[in-house]
Amino acid sequence: MGVCGGIAAYKAAELVRVLRKQDHEVRVVMTAAARQFVAPLTFQALSGHAVHGDLLDVEQEQAMSHIHLARWADLLLIAPATADMLAKIAHGLADDLLSTLYLAAECPVFVAPAMNQAMWGKVVTQENIARLQSHGVHCIGPAAGEQACGEQGLGRMVEPAEICRQVLKYEQPSLLAGVNIVISAGPTREPLDPVRYITNRSSGKMGYALAAEAVSAGANVTLVSGPVNLLAPAGAKLIPVETALQMYDAVIMHSRSADIYIGAAAVADYRPQTLAESKIKKDGETGSIVLTKNPDIIAAVARLQPKPLVVGFAAETDDLENYAKHKLQSKNLDLIAANWVGQAEGGFDSDRNALQVFWPGGQQILAMTDKRTLAVQLLNLITEKWHEKNPVKNS
Ligand code: PMT
Repeated sequence: MGVCGGIAAYKAAELVRVLRKQDHEVRVVMTAAARQFVAPLTFQALSGHAVHGDLLDVEQEQAMSHIHLARWADLLLIAPATADMLAKIAHGLADDLLSTLYLAAECPVFVAPAMNQAMWGKVVTQENIARLQSHGVHCIGPAAGEQACGEQGLGRMVEPAEICRQVLKYEQPSLLAGVNIVISAGPTREPLDPVRYITNRSSGKMGYALAAEAVSAGANVTLVSGPVNLLAPAGAKLIPVETALQMYDAVIMHSRSADIYIGAAAVADYRPQTLAESKIKKDGETGSIVLTKNPDIIAAVARLQPKPLVVGFAAETDDLENYAKHKLQSKNLDLIAANWVGQAEGGFDSDRNALQVFWPGGQQILAMTDKRTLAVQLLNLITEKWHEKNPVKNS
């Protein structure tokens, strides 16, 4: 566990205690700034091991070198992770023990950021986090609330018990090993003429988070994506498409050999009936576009034989539960994740989201959190359902 210099360093002591209580062996690396906040002796007493601090400490390096430490760990958790440390590791800098350890680590890495809300909101910090996530780093939080500086907002370190819970949940990754998953993400673009199209506000973040987490969980992931501004997660096979018809073809083709299909894309229900060859000219005060219905991709996947486990999303501005339950049934889905859209937080383009998940005979609420954490929680439910349906494949 890496501890950086922030007021939340005191909570990291509790985190060590909670992890030890769950029978995990913990070795702690503290940055120089972290040692200004909490004495290494605290972490030594709680972890039962000497605390590592200095990259160039000859005695420590002899006892356990930074490379040895990186190989020893099954998982690296940096909590609290400061803006400075996130920037460093996002760019491969290695000028202290913790950043060097990150660079040498081959195990899964989790970061639990903690900083002032403005620092967290700064574009460069968000870019660093996105970069780390695209490298497979798992981000837990931060949480919202009152900060040590008196300001309100996102930036508090997630509580130790919750960090522990999320890290331990990750320990079941092999449950999806070798499972073929097709995920659709992003919007579709329905062209009107060579320069215009009809689309929606989907950014692809939810679908890409699911793809990244499914790869981390050992699945073979095919990501069929509409036009978005995101890097495909390392390890996922990206199939870029533009229109609903192209998405239909790609999804159906890849779902024939899929175990699970997750439809996170916001597919246009209709497309312009005709595609003008030249730019449509502005004639008259009003104009009209005749639309024709696009095929329902997910319903078609649910008709495939053999049928993969089919997971849909429902994006609603009203009556979420009823519409979601109706889609679950009418499209013959195994599970549906319903989210509110058009609200201040969550849904389209937001980094955070909340879901109400329904399946025949059950439901679960997944509270508002970052889309990556939500993806882990949803995948845990999907994994349960898949193993329920495939007891033979599972054994
Ligand atoms: O991409 P983000 O900015 O991160 O936003 C995430 C999201 C809000 C787009 C995502 O969480 C979500 O809700 N995706 C589904 C959006 C949607 O189109 O919902 P729907 O209720 O209209 O469709 C229901 C289901 O049918 C969805 O699984 C959809 O992929 C599928 N569908 C819809 C129409 C169609 N022609 N074919 C389909 O497969």
